Amino acid sequence: MSAPENMSAENSAPSSGKILALSLGFSLLMVLVFTLVANLLPQIEGEASVEEEVELGALTMDSFIALGETLFNGKGTCTLCHNAMGRAPDILAQNMVGAAEERLADSRYKGKATDAESYLHESMVNPGIYVVAGFGKKGSNDTVSPMPAVHKAPIQLSEVEIGAIIAFMQAKDGNDVTVPLPTDAPVAEAEPEAPAAATSAEEALGKFGCTACHSVLESEATLGPSLKIVGRKLTAEEIRQSIIDPNAVIADGFSGGMMPANFADQMMVKELEMIIHFLAEQKG
Ligand code: HEC
Ligand code: HEC
Repeated sequence: MSAPENMSAENSAPSSGKILALSLGFSLLMVLVFTLVANLLPQIEGEASVEEEVELGALTMDSFIALGETLFNGKGTCTLCHNAMGRAPDILAQNMVGAAEERLADSRYKGKATDAESYLHESMVNPGIYVVAGFGKKGSNDTVSPMPAVHKAPIQLSEVEIGAIIAFMQAKDGNDVTVPLPTDAPVAEAEPEAPAAATSAEEALGKFGCTACHSVLESEATLGPSLKIVGRKLTAEEIRQSIIDPNAVIADGFSGGMMPANFADQMMVKELEMIIHFLAEQKG
């Protein structure tokens, strides 16, 4: 009569060990899965990039310049091209007031600017009027600028924001800032909305500056490969990799290190998925 008891005791010992092992294994698996997911997926929250609030009444020259620096690195998307990669003049590394004076003295200069401030302004809103030698659109013999006008979509800086960036470009090398502090500009214009999640792939491609470098939608940009038939060339998974890890595979005829490698940190998952889906459908 004790045999069944023994049997059940013998059975229960190994089976509770099994359960322990199983549940330990399960916890470990979950930890692994979470780690993987956390590493693979861009942060869901996105880094709601901190937009400066401009209260014009309280604006000091220092905060105006700081706003310019924030815009230069953020909403202005200037550093996408103006960096040490050599595709555009390295604005942070060169004294732009000195550069402006050289440009104005160049016999090729046909613009309307008369001093550094007006040259920098003109370069931003009408980049094609004077193309820095060696930086023109491929094949245009420096007659066409690859730079988008920054007061137009997708960058769409206001006059106050453009002024702040000029102030930053003047101040960073110790030059006098000649841009007057804005006083009467409407606050609404100067105060950028906190970036909301894009609601369509088209909007996301503009929001993240893809259109500044790639031909896609209305853009004919040539700094990166055209994306108009990318769906024929790459699978959705390859497109995903091209966006979150652009240097893993370099497109033929282009150099690596050019496309920003931090989109995964900036995008919400939904935005990334919309872009991938949209690009995978681009088959010409
Ligand atoms: C898509 C790439 C791209 C973006 C984005 C871009 N630029 Fe440019 N920019 C260029 C290129 C290329 C040139 C050189 C050709 C020319 O003169 O237009 C240039 C020229 C300039 C010049 C003249 C430089 C000189 O040495 O004379 C200024 C000033 C300038 N950009 C400012 C800006 C600012 C400020 C922003 C952001 C608000 C910006 N750019 C965004 C590509 C870009
Ligand atoms: C500053 C310029 C720049 C910006 C901004 C940029 N890219 Fe790129 N992109 C490139 C360059 C250059 C390449 C080719 C080199 C490489 O493969 O990394 C490339 C490659 C790609 C490829 C692979 C294309 C192929 O034919 O293999 C895809 C897809 C792509 N980019 C999508 C995007 C998307 C989506 C965005 C916006 C979220 C974006 N890019 C923003 C410059 C840029």
